[in-house]
Amino acid sequence: MTPGVRPLIAGNWKMHGLRADGSALARAVAEGAGGGAGAAELLVCPPFTLLREVGAALEGGPVAVGAQDCHAAAKGAHTGDVSAPMLRDAGARFVILGHSERRADHGEGDAAVLAKAEAAIAAGLVPVVCVGESEGERVAGDAEAVVTRQLDGSLPEAFAASGGVVAYEPVWAIGTGRTPTEADIAAMHAAIRARLRARFGEAGGRLRILYGGSVKPANAAPILALENVDGALVGGASLVAADFLAIAAAV
Ligand code: 13P
Repeated sequence: MTPGVRPLIAGNWKMHGLRADGSALARAVAEGAGGGAGAAELLVCPPFTLLREVGAALEGGPVAVGAQDCHAAAKGAHTGDVSAPMLRDAGARFVILGHSERRADHGEGDAAVLAKAEAAIAAGLVPVVCVGESEGERVAGDAEAVVTRQLDGSLPEAFAASGGVVAYEPVWAIGTGRTPTEADIAAMHAAIRARLRARFGEAGGRLRILYGGSVKPANAAPILALENVDGALVGGASLVAADFLAIAAAV
């Protein structure tokens, strides 16, 4: 935790959910969140097709809605893509960018993520920019250098002013049930914090840095208690309302 910073527990639903499932899951999260007086702010990021449905289920409550990607252009001839203003128009307040699955499946590099983050901020969305090393990079002792390079290349100048969020997600911990040691998570988050401060000054000290990768109710509390861990980006466990809420309650 960072003193004075409200943690964010974000669910990345990835490519899961039809309309009925999505609404039911969103309603269950909203019910569990009650009036939103919990320690953590809650966010769910469904697939594009469910943004309206989930937004309707969450309307008026404390749980925010986000998307999982956007195009760097506001509009144009880009078949199959969705722009940041479209997401804002559909009710999204946040957008996940540079997730390792997009970096791997769609060849997105830091420059592409930076352009998307600029577009997101221009549209009034809060970018949640993902960084993280592969297993080979960690074994080679390069994890911190890789993450630093990704931060330097992916975060736009307006990032701090937008209240942007960084999510540290080691690629090898995603969906595997494996997590780094608490010492390794703390060390990486401290390195990210130092980089944010160096780049954005005092504001960089207050930006939220989430941990992601196999976060479950059983391991959430000790991870969320670490210095500079200001919440979690949750994949699989966010698809079960009780698990997602249990992670939020572990803050
Ligand atoms: P898991 O929680 O399923 O490991 O996924 C993490 C993730 O990729 C969130 O963006």
